Amino acid sequence: MSAPRGVAMLGSLALIAVVIGAAAAAFAYTAGWLSPRRLTPDKFVAAFAPPTGPSLGHRRNHAKGICFTGVFEANGAGAELSRAQVFARGQYPVLGRFNLGTPDANAADATVRVRGLGISIATPDGQDWRSAMINPPFFPVATPQAFYALLRASGSRDPNAMPAFAAAHPEFAKFGEWAKNAPWTGSYAEERFNGINSFVFIDASGVERVVRWSLMPAAQPVPVAPDELANRGPDFLEQEIAQRVADAPQRWTMAVIVANAGDRTADPSKPWPADRRTIEVGTLIAQHVQAERDGPCRDINFDPTVLPSGMRTSDDPFPAARSAAYAKSYDLRTAEAKDYSRSATEVKP
Ligand code: HEM
Repeated sequence: MSAPRGVAMLGSLALIAVVIGAAAAAFAYTAGWLSPRRLTPDKFVAAFAPPTGPSLGHRRNHAKGICFTGVFEANGAGAELSRAQVFARGQYPVLGRFNLGTPDANAADATVRVRGLGISIATPDGQDWRSAMINPPFFPVATPQAFYALLRASGSRDPNAMPAFAAAHPEFAKFGEWAKNAPWTGSYAEERFNGINSFVFIDASGVERVVRWSLMPAAQPVPVAPDELANRGPDFLEQEIAQRVADAPQRWTMAVIVANAGDRTADPSKPWPADRRTIEVGTLIAQHVQAERDGPCRDINFDPTVLPSGMRTSDDPFPAARSAAYAKSYDLRTAEAKDYSRSATEVKP
């Protein structure tokens, strides 16, 4: 027996209202509105901003940088670990960016402790491997939540904020030691850049292994005191790398480190013991340097979850958190293009 028409109509309207209500609630949940303590990309990105505000038009972290192009020369050894084409012997084009770990696009180079490198390696099968690495050998904290707490504490006016943070996150002390004691160098070309997060490589038979990777410089690192670096001017790193690459291509060996069973794969503040199996899979060669303002790295997002088939994310929670924050930063900075004008010679429509 069918219900009277009016009742059926009310029933359908109620159902539509329930569906819309559920969709709105799901959206609000995803956006973090229903759970004020939830860590969202918006909160993360806002937490990087210095008191004077973000550098509009620039990346919300690692804001100062310079583009390069070059190649990744795979020696074939990585094919044992991953079926990704990037490890088949051959040369693949690279788009990259040398950068400094600061939200201030005008920071003086000698004032920034962490240096970074972003790369995107494209292969003929249409796949892309993106990675953004830094020169410390481990991350300051164990979880994305702890990183957010660190940003909040370091930006706080409360003199007890940092001591309280350090007390609650004992792993942070190790990073302090690195920052104090690791030598500074005068060149991006002399830095070792570490991927730090763990990922899973899948070989041709489907066997999975958890790995991390690093780029080891061919150039011999020459330690230089920070005061001496300050005398070289606010932009010495960009000037030096532009000149150095113009004189000769600069190289880094890519090493893949394989975890042993039982290694801490989810915590980037814990480096694995030095005796872990390490395979040199190829060489990154920087061939041309270009200013970021008009350069090819300006509008790319070096999202660490952009991986070719043959690689995937692991139980390390950072890459997903990074991906969400980088997308937010990318959306903001590309919408602010007018605040970071391209060079005056550009023909405007
Ligand atoms: C949850 C933790 C992290 C957050 C929220 C975060 C946030 C950010 C943001 C917002 C950007 C700017 C992205 C853009 O506009 O394209 C950025 C860039 C960068 N980050 Fe992170 N980051 C995190 C962890 C890491 C880690 C673990 C590493 C190194 C292993 C790293 C290395 C870099 C590098 C090298 C860049 C510059 C990439 C480029 O040149 O475009 N970050 N980060």
